[in-house]
Amino acid sequence: MNSGFTHITVLLEEAVEALAVRADGCYLDGTFGRGGHSRLILQNLGPDGRLLGFDKDPQAIATGQALAAEDGRFVIVQRSFAELGSEALARGLAGKVSGVLLDLGVSSPQLDDPERGFSFMNDGPLDMRMDPSRGISAAEFVNTASAEEIARVFKEYGEERFARRMAGAVVARRDTQPFERTADLAEVLKVANPAWEKGKNPATRAFQGLRIHVNNELGDLEAGLDAALENLEVGGRLVVISFHSLEDRIVKLFMRKLVKGEADNMPRNLPIRHQAFEPRIKIIGKAQFASDDETRVNPRSRSAVMRVAEKLR
Ligand SMILES: C[S@@+](CC[C@H](N)C(=O)[O-])C[C@H]1O[C@@H](n2cnc3c(N)ncnc32)[C@H](O)[C@@H]1O
Repeated sequence: MNSGFTHITVLLEEAVEALAVRADGCYLDGTFGRGGHSRLILQNLGPDGRLLGFDKDPQAIATGQALAAEDGRFVIVQRSFAELGSEALARGLAGKVSGVLLDLGVSSPQLDDPERGFSFMNDGPLDMRMDPSRGISAAEFVNTASAEEIARVFKEYGEERFARRMAGAVVARRDTQPFERTADLAEVLKVANPAWEKGKNPATRAFQGLRIHVNNELGDLEAGLDAALENLEVGGRLVVISFHSLEDRIVKLFMRKLVKGEADNMPRNLPIRHQAFEPRIKIIGKAQFASDDETRVNPRSRSAVMRVAEKLR
Protein backbone atom coordinates (compact mmCIF):
# COMPACT_ATOMS: atom_id res chain seq x y z
CA MET A 1 0.00 0.00 0.00
CA ASN A 2 2.27 2.79 -1.25
CA SER A 3 0.30 6.03 -1.44
CA GLY A 4 3.08 7.82 -3.36
CA PHE A 5 3.28 10.52 -0.66
CA THR A 6 6.60 10.79 1.15
CA HIS A 7 7.72 11.86 4.62
CA ILE A 8 11.01 13.65 5.31
CA THR A 9 12.22 12.57 8.74
CA VAL A 10 12.81 15.45 11.16
CA LEU A 11 15.94 15.56 13.38
CA LEU A 12 16.98 12.17 12.02
CA GLU A 13 20.65 12.03 13.07
CA GLU A 14 20.04 14.03 16.25
CA ALA A 15 17.24 11.79 17.54
CA VAL A 16 19.07 8.53 16.87
CA GLU A 17 22.27 9.91 18.41
CA ALA A 18 20.23 10.95 21.47
CA LEU A 19 19.01 7.36 21.85
CA ALA A 20 22.70 6.32 22.27
CA VAL A 21 21.93 3.03 20.51
CA ARG A 22 23.67 -0.03 21.98
CA ALA A 23 24.37 -2.76 19.44
CA ASP A 24 22.53 -5.42 21.46
CA GLY A 25 19.82 -3.11 22.85
CA CYS A 26 16.06 -3.33 22.45
CA TYR A 27 14.41 -0.14 21.17
CA LEU A 28 10.84 1.07 20.64
CA ASP A 29 9.90 3.48 17.87
CA GLY A 30 6.45 4.64 19.00
CA THR A 31 5.75 6.55 15.78
CA PHE A 32 7.10 4.50 12.87
CA GLY A 33 5.61 6.68 10.08
CA ARG A 34 7.66 5.80 7.02
CA GLY A 35 10.48 4.40 9.12
CA GLY A 36 13.12 7.09 8.72
CA HIS A 37 14.24 6.93 12.33
CA SER A 38 13.70 3.16 12.50
CA ARG A 39 16.03 2.48 9.57
CA LEU A 40 18.83 4.50 11.14
CA ILE A 41 18.31 2.76 14.49
CA LEU A 42 18.58 -0.60 12.70
CA GLN A 43 21.84 0.54 11.07
CA ASN A 44 23.23 1.15 14.55
CA LEU A 45 22.01 -2.17 15.98
CA GLY A 46 24.05 -5.37 15.82
CA PRO A 47 22.67 -8.84 14.99
CA ASP A 48 21.31 -9.27 18.54
CA GLY A 49 19.60 -5.89 18.72
CA ARG A 50 15.82 -5.55 18.38
CA LEU A 51 13.46 -2.80 17.32
CA LEU A 52 9.71 -2.76 17.88
CA GLY A 53 7.71 -0.21 15.88
CA PHE A 54 4.25 1.18 16.62
CA ASP A 55 1.89 3.15 14.42
CA LYS A 56 -1.87 3.63 14.24
CA ASP A 57 -1.86 4.28 10.51
CA PRO A 58 -2.52 1.42 8.05
CA GLN A 59 -0.18 2.87 5.41
CA ALA A 60 2.62 3.23 7.95
CA ILE A 61 1.97 -0.37 9.02
CA ALA A 62 2.25 -1.58 5.40
CA THR A 63 5.65 0.14 5.10
CA GLY A 64 6.68 -1.36 8.44
CA GLN A 65 5.65 -4.86 7.38
CA ALA A 66 7.80 -4.56 4.25
CA LEU A 67 10.75 -3.54 6.44
CA ALA A 68 10.06 -6.40 8.87
CA ALA A 69 10.11 -8.86 5.95
CA GLU A 70 13.61 -7.63 5.04
CA ASP A 71 15.03 -7.34 8.54
CA GLY A 72 14.39 -10.02 11.16
CA ARG A 73 15.41 -7.68 14.02
CA PHE A 74 12.35 -5.49 13.39
CA VAL A 75 8.67 -6.02 14.23
CA ILE A 76 5.76 -3.60 13.73
CA VAL A 77 2.39 -3.48 15.51
CA GLN A 78 -0.71 -1.43 14.70
CA ARG A 79 -1.30 0.05 18.13
CA SER A 80 -1.01 3.36 19.88
CA PHE A 81 2.25 3.96 21.70
CA ALA A 82 -0.03 4.67 24.68
CA GLU A 83 -0.29 0.86 24.88
CA LEU A 84 3.42 0.18 24.73
CA GLY A 85 3.35 -1.16 28.28
CA SER A 86 1.08 -4.11 27.49
CA GLU A 87 2.93 -4.78 24.23
CA ALA A 88 6.27 -4.79 26.06
CA LEU A 89 4.83 -7.10 28.73
CA ALA A 90 3.46 -9.54 26.12
CA ARG A 91 6.90 -9.66 24.47
CA GLY A 92 8.85 -10.16 27.70
CA LEU A 93 10.35 -6.67 27.46
CA ALA A 94 8.77 -5.01 30.51
CA GLY A 95 11.44 -2.89 32.22
CA LYS A 96 14.06 -4.04 29.68
CA VAL A 97 13.69 -1.44 26.96
CA SER A 98 16.92 0.39 26.07
CA GLY A 99 15.30 3.40 24.43
CA VAL A 100 11.95 4.86 23.32
CA LEU A 101 11.52 7.35 20.50
CA LEU A 102 8.33 9.40 19.98
CA ASP A 103 8.25 11.65 16.89
CA LEU A 104 4.80 13.05 17.53
CA GLY A 105 1.86 14.14 15.43
CA VAL A 106 1.00 13.40 11.85
CA SER A 107 3.23 12.40 8.95
CA SER A 108 3.45 14.34 5.70
CA PRO A 109 1.57 11.61 3.74
CA GLN A 110 -1.35 11.93 6.18
CA LEU A 111 -1.47 15.70 5.66
CA ASP A 112 -0.79 15.68 1.94
CA ASP A 113 -3.23 12.97 0.84
CA PRO A 114 -6.64 14.70 0.64
CA GLU A 115 -8.37 11.33 1.02
CA ARG A 116 -7.19 11.15 4.67
CA GLY A 117 -9.30 14.21 5.45
CA PHE A 118 -6.72 16.27 7.40
CA SER A 119 -6.36 19.08 4.87
CA PHE A 120 -8.16 22.39 4.68
CA MET A 121 -6.16 23.18 1.53
CA ASN A 122 -7.17 20.15 -0.55
CA ASP A 123 -10.73 18.93 -0.39
CA GLY A 124 -11.36 15.40 0.88
CA PRO A 125 -13.68 13.37 3.11
CA LEU A 126 -13.70 14.92 6.61
CA ASP A 127 -12.01 12.07 8.52
CA MET A 128 -8.67 12.99 10.20
CA ARG A 129 -8.19 9.63 11.91
CA MET A 130 -4.68 8.15 11.87
CA ASP A 131 -6.41 4.76 12.17
CA PRO A 132 -9.64 5.11 10.15
CA SER A 133 -10.92 1.77 11.50
CA ARG A 134 -11.21 3.07 15.09
CA GLY A 135 -12.98 5.87 16.94
CA ILE A 136 -15.08 8.56 15.34
CA SER A 137 -14.20 10.69 12.33
CA ALA A 138 -14.00 14.49 12.42
CA ALA A 139 -17.28 14.58 10.43
CA GLU A 140 -19.07 12.45 13.03
CA PHE A 141 -17.73 14.72 15.75
CA VAL A 142 -18.73 18.07 14.23
CA ASN A 143 -22.13 16.67 13.16
CA THR A 144 -23.08 15.30 16.60
CA ALA A 145 -21.19 17.03 19.45
CA SER A 146 -22.70 19.95 21.38
CA ALA A 147 -21.63 23.50 20.51
CA GLU A 148 -19.88 23.67 23.92
CA GLU A 149 -17.86 20.53 23.25
CA ILE A 150 -16.84 21.70 19.76
CA ALA A 151 -15.84 25.08 21.19
CA ARG A 152 -13.77 23.36 23.89
CA VAL A 153 -11.92 21.35 21.25
CA PHE A 154 -11.22 24.42 19.11
CA LYS A 155 -10.05 26.37 22.17
CA GLU A 156 -8.13 23.78 24.20
CA TYR A 157 -6.49 21.87 21.38
CA GLY A 158 -6.45 24.54 18.67
CA GLU A 159 -5.85 27.57 20.91
CA GLU A 160 -8.49 29.33 18.78
CA ARG A 161 -9.60 32.65 20.31
CA PHE A 162 -12.94 32.66 18.50
CA ALA A 163 -13.78 29.08 19.39
CA ARG A 164 -17.35 29.73 20.58
CA ARG A 165 -18.27 31.80 17.59
CA MET A 166 -16.81 29.26 15.17
CA ALA A 167 -18.45 26.31 16.96
CA GLY A 168 -21.77 28.17 16.81
CA ALA A 169 -21.41 28.55 13.04
CA VAL A 170 -20.65 24.83 12.67
CA VAL A 171 -23.74 23.82 14.66
CA ALA A 172 -26.00 26.30 12.80
CA ARG A 173 -24.87 24.97 9.42
CA ARG A 174 -24.96 21.24 10.23
CA ASP A 175 -28.65 21.45 11.14
CA THR A 176 -29.49 22.16 7.50
CA GLN A 177 -26.67 20.15 5.92
CA PRO A 178 -24.26 17.88 7.81
CA PHE A 179 -20.55 18.21 7.04
CA GLU A 180 -18.88 15.61 4.85
CA ARG A 181 -15.91 17.36 3.21
CA THR A 182 -12.87 19.24 4.55
CA ALA A 183 -13.24 22.21 2.17
CA ASP A 184 -16.86 22.72 3.20
CA LEU A 185 -15.95 22.85 6.90
CA ALA A 186 -12.92 25.08 6.19
CA GLU A 187 -15.16 27.56 4.35
CA VAL A 188 -17.68 27.77 7.22
CA LEU A 189 -14.84 28.25 9.74
CA LYS A 190 -13.24 30.89 7.56
CA VAL A 191 -16.42 32.94 7.36
CA ALA A 192 -17.00 32.63 11.13
CA ASN A 193 -13.44 33.65 12.06
CA PRO A 194 -13.36 37.45 12.46
CA ALA A 195 -9.57 37.76 12.87
CA TRP A 196 -7.55 36.33 10.03
CA GLU A 197 -3.85 36.01 10.79
CA LYS A 198 -1.40 36.96 8.06
CA GLY A 199 -0.17 33.95 6.09
CA LYS A 200 -2.41 31.52 7.99
CA ASN A 201 -5.61 29.89 6.79
CA PRO A 202 -8.38 31.03 9.23
CA ALA A 203 -9.38 27.38 9.74
CA THR A 204 -5.87 26.26 10.80
CA ARG A 205 -6.37 26.35 14.57
CA ALA A 206 -9.81 24.75 14.53
CA PHE A 207 -8.52 21.98 12.25
CA GLN A 208 -5.58 21.38 14.61
CA GLY A 209 -8.04 21.13 17.51
CA LEU A 210 -10.19 18.60 15.68
CA ARG A 211 -7.21 16.49 14.68
CA ILE A 212 -5.85 16.37 18.23
CA HIS A 213 -9.29 15.48 19.60
CA VAL A 214 -10.21 12.82 17.04
CA ASN A 215 -6.86 11.04 17.61
CA ASN A 216 -6.72 11.61 21.39
CA GLU A 217 -3.21 12.92 20.80
CA LEU A 218 -2.60 14.55 24.18
CA GLY A 219 -4.14 11.68 26.17
CA ASP A 220 -2.01 9.18 24.25
CA LEU A 221 1.08 11.30 24.85
CA GLU A 222 0.55 11.37 28.62
CA ALA A 223 -0.09 7.62 28.74
CA GLY A 224 2.83 6.91 26.40
CA LEU A 225 5.29 8.92 28.49
CA ASP A 226 4.26 7.07 31.67
CA ALA A 227 4.50 3.70 29.92
CA ALA A 228 7.89 4.57 28.44
CA LEU A 229 9.29 5.47 31.85
CA GLU A 230 8.00 2.26 33.41
CA ASN A 231 9.38 0.05 30.66
CA LEU A 232 12.83 1.59 30.20
CA GLU A 233 15.75 -0.14 31.86
CA VAL A 234 17.97 1.95 34.11
CA GLY A 235 20.19 3.99 31.78
CA GLY A 236 17.59 3.76 29.00
CA ARG A 237 16.82 6.86 26.96
CA LEU A 238 13.55 8.61 26.16
CA VAL A 239 13.62 10.90 23.11
CA VAL A 240 10.54 12.96 22.24
CA ILE A 241 10.06 15.29 19.27
CA SER A 242 7.04 17.65 19.58
CA PHE A 243 5.54 19.90 16.95
CA HIS A 244 3.42 22.35 18.93
CA SER A 245 3.40 24.00 22.33
CA LEU A 246 0.64 21.79 23.80
CA GLU A 247 2.70 18.65 23.21
CA ASP A 248 5.97 20.21 24.26
CA ARG A 249 4.44 21.52 27.48
CA ILE A 250 3.31 18.00 28.45
CA VAL A 251 6.78 16.59 27.72
CA LYS A 252 8.56 19.39 29.57
CA LEU A 253 6.36 19.11 32.68
CA PHE A 254 6.59 15.30 32.66
CA MET A 255 10.38 15.42 32.62
CA ARG A 256 10.59 18.25 35.17
CA LYS A 257 8.39 16.37 37.64
CA LEU A 258 10.61 13.30 37.42
CA VAL A 259 13.72 15.39 38.06
CA LYS A 260 12.37 17.63 40.81
CA GLY A 261 9.32 15.81 42.18
CA GLU A 262 5.91 17.29 42.98
CA ALA A 263 7.64 19.83 45.26
CA ASP A 264 8.54 21.81 42.15
CA ASN A 265 4.87 22.71 41.72
CA MET A 266 4.46 23.99 45.30
CA PRO A 267 4.99 27.54 46.60
CA ARG A 268 8.69 28.21 47.26
CA ASN A 269 8.19 29.21 50.95
CA LEU A 270 6.74 25.84 52.06
CA PRO A 271 9.12 23.82 54.25
CA ILE A 272 9.47 20.95 51.78
CA ARG A 273 12.53 18.73 52.10
CA HIS A 274 13.70 18.74 48.50
CA GLN A 275 16.39 16.19 49.25
CA ALA A 276 13.65 13.67 50.14
CA PHE A 277 12.83 13.34 46.45
CA GLU A 278 15.14 11.18 44.41
CA PRO A 279 15.03 12.01 40.72
CA ARG A 280 13.85 9.19 38.45
CA ILE A 281 15.45 10.62 35.34
CA LYS A 282 18.17 13.01 34.33
CA ILE A 283 17.65 15.41 31.47
CA ILE A 284 20.21 15.07 28.69
CA GLY A 285 21.18 18.40 27.10
CA LYS A 286 18.87 21.26 26.29
CA ALA A 287 15.77 21.29 24.13
CA GLN A 288 17.03 20.87 20.58
CA PHE A 289 15.70 22.43 17.38
CA ALA A 290 16.23 21.74 13.71
CA SER A 291 19.24 23.44 12.11
CA ASP A 292 18.90 26.20 9.53
CA ASP A 293 19.97 23.71 6.86
CA GLU A 294 17.22 21.32 7.88
CA THR A 295 14.46 23.95 8.05
CA ARG A 296 15.47 25.18 4.59
CA VAL A 297 15.02 21.72 3.09
CA ASN A 298 12.02 20.71 5.24
CA PRO A 299 9.87 23.65 6.47
CA ARG A 300 7.86 21.24 8.66
CA SER A 301 10.93 20.86 10.89
CA ARG A 302 10.68 24.54 11.88
CA SER A 303 8.29 23.77 14.73
CA ALA A 304 10.12 20.66 16.02
CA VAL A 305 11.46 20.56 19.61
CA MET A 306 13.36 17.51 20.84
CA ARG A 307 13.77 16.65 24.52
CA VAL A 308 15.85 13.77 25.87
CA ALA A 309 15.92 12.05 29.27
CA GLU A 310 17.73 9.07 30.77
CA LYS A 311 16.15 6.80 33.37
CA LEU A 312 17.95 6.74 36.72
CA ARG A 313 15.66 4.44 38.68
C1 LIG B 1 5.80 12.48 12.50
S1 LIG B 1 5.32 10.92 11.96
C2 LIG B 1 6.70 9.91 12.32
C3 LIG B 1 7.68 9.82 11.22
C4 LIG B 1 8.78 8.83 11.42
N1 LIG B 1 9.63 9.16 12.55
C5 LIG B 1 9.62 8.69 10.18
O1 LIG B 1 10.82 8.98 10.22
O2 LIG B 1 9.08 8.28 9.14
C6 LIG B 1 4.20 10.42 13.19
C7 LIG B 1 3.63 9.04 12.98
O3 LIG B 1 3.17 8.59 14.25
C8 LIG B 1 1.92 8.03 14.14
N2 LIG B 1 1.28 8.25 15.44
C9 LIG B 1 0.91 9.43 15.99
N3 LIG B 1 0.40 9.23 17.20
C10 LIG B 1 0.49 7.90 17.45
C11 LIG B 1 0.15 7.08 18.56
N4 LIG B 1 -0.41 7.57 19.67
N5 LIG B 1 0.41 5.76 18.47
C12 LIG B 1 0.97 5.23 17.37
N6 LIG B 1 1.29 5.96 16.28
C13 LIG B 1 1.06 7.28 16.32
C14 LIG B 1 1.25 8.70 12.98
O4 LIG B 1 0.30 7.84 12.39
C15 LIG B 1 2.45 8.95 12.05
O5 LIG B 1 2.61 7.90 11.16
